Amino acid sequence: MVKMPPDVQEAISKQSPVPVATADSAGKPNVVFVGFLRIVDDETIQIADNFFDKTAANLGENPQVSIVVYDGEKKKSFQIKGSVEIMTEGSVYDDVATWVHAKSKALPAKAAVVMHVEEVYNAMYGPDAGKRII
Ligand SMILES: Cc1cc2nc3c(=O)[nH]c(=O)nc-3n(C[C@H](O)[C@H](O)[C@H](O)COP(=O)(O)O)c2cc1C
Repeated sequence: MVKMPPDVQEAISKQSPVPVATADSAGKPNVVFVGFLRIVDDETIQIADNFFDKTAANLGENPQVSIVVYDGEKKKSFQIKGSVEIMTEGSVYDDVATWVHAKSKALPAKAAVVMHVEEVYNAMYGPDAGKRII
């Protein structure tokens, strides 16, 4: 795992919804918007699965995600990639369900998707576009 620098965390915090990309075991890509995405520490992001369908199937086959964020104020953009754990019970799941249900009790909070950050790339246009940061 790697530690996300402050500017990466700031860009993630400002972005909503966040595009979350997955792929099946054959490599077929899928991307969804996610509103319930938060940073829990320098190396970890939580995502709430309320409505994941192809996304959940993909994560079952291939537990990796990529997100992209753009901070228009700071003119910075990052791609963040990592591996995930899916939790449907226990204290982490309970925290995520509480977060979701604070917004709406009607949301299903099917699972907590815990993303362990492994790679961060610069995605801002310009000469460093695509270069790995950490
Ligand atoms: C603005 C917006 C925010 C969303 N936030 C979430 C979310 O936080 N969690 C979730 O499970 N689905 C969320 N969705 C639904 C997913 O984007 C998507 O519709 C769902 O995962 C089904 O697509 P899939 O079959 O590709 O997984 C959101 C959709 C929109 C448009």
